[in-house]
Amino acid sequence: MGTALDTLFLSPPAGYTTLVAREFSLFTPKNVLKWDAVHPTRATFNFTRPDAMLAFAQANGMKMRGHTLAWYNQNPLWLLSGGFSADTMTQILKDHIAAVVGHYKGSLYAWDVVNEAFTDAGALRDTVWGKAIGKGYIETAFRAARAADPTALLFYNDYDVETAAAKQDAVYNLIADFKSRGVPIDGVGLQSHFLVNPDGTGAPSLSQLQTTYARFAALGVRIQITELDVRVQTPGTTAAALAGQLQVYSNVVNACLGVTACEAIIVWGVTDSESGIPGKFPGWGSALLFDANLTKKTTWATVKSALGG
Ligand code: XIL
Repeated sequence: MGTALDTLFLSPPAGYTTLVAREFSLFTPKNVLKWDAVHPTRATFNFTRPDAMLAFAQANGMKMRGHTLAWYNQNPLWLLSGGFSADTMTQILKDHIAAVVGHYKGSLYAWDVVNEAFTDAGALRDTVWGKAIGKGYIETAFRAARAADPTALLFYNDYDVETAAAKQDAVYNLIADFKSRGVPIDGVGLQSHFLVNPDGTGAPSLSQLQTTYARFAALGVRIQITELDVRVQTPGTTAAALAGQLQVYSNVVNACLGVTACEAIIVWGVTDSESGIPGKFPGWGSALLFDANLTKKTTWATVKSALGG
């Protein structure tokens, strides 16, 4: 079981870090390894905050994942507005990966190398990388990551893969192609940002999860549930929504336990108060395992019991 760490970790309330070390065995930094945070100007890197997270991981015997090396979002202005040619963008991408993955060589056990490269319709998403370089940026990024740290596991990470058939095909075809040509890739990250409507509908079913996990497992890659949260409308959450939310948490755990390839479930934050959901989806929240007082919620008990107690 893993979690994601961000600002609350960097100035923690009493009991927070103890809870993280007790409840989880791995974590992903939510924001501090994204381009805008780690590479704020073309000539500078800022490793202070991710280094502090790594020290915490090492002090507590936890694994740390890296997130993320090529994404359309949270990029610095110098990159977005540079007007760089395809060749220069390729070199910038390679240099960034050599510097950032190289800084953590042997220390981070996995990287989300490319994040959210496809639309729900399965097309290449319109991104700073795709526009400048074309689809080949994905392969370039994976090769550069392997070269910078041959021991780190390399993941392609995306959302809606369980429900958007065309996107699932695009991710599947990418991995199948990489496997057949020997392009390095070790796993698929299924973000799993789910929601449950007031009437209890909205999330993928257990069988959708199982079919998706089985399909990727058959490709011979690892599966990690990388950004799990299950939001409901709040305040005034209905009984059907609450029941549905518990069902979704238990379905994810059961589907993951049901396939050997699925090796980690990472929730996207520790407490509801540090979740970005109410900001991004006003009227929604309560998506995680602990409340603002660091108290275990019924979601926590459900996950524990699905894991076998
Ligand atoms: C989100 C973080 O949770 C927020 O704190 C930040 O403001 C925006 O990014 N997919 C991803 C994550 O891969 O990096 C995103 O995280 C959520 C969607």
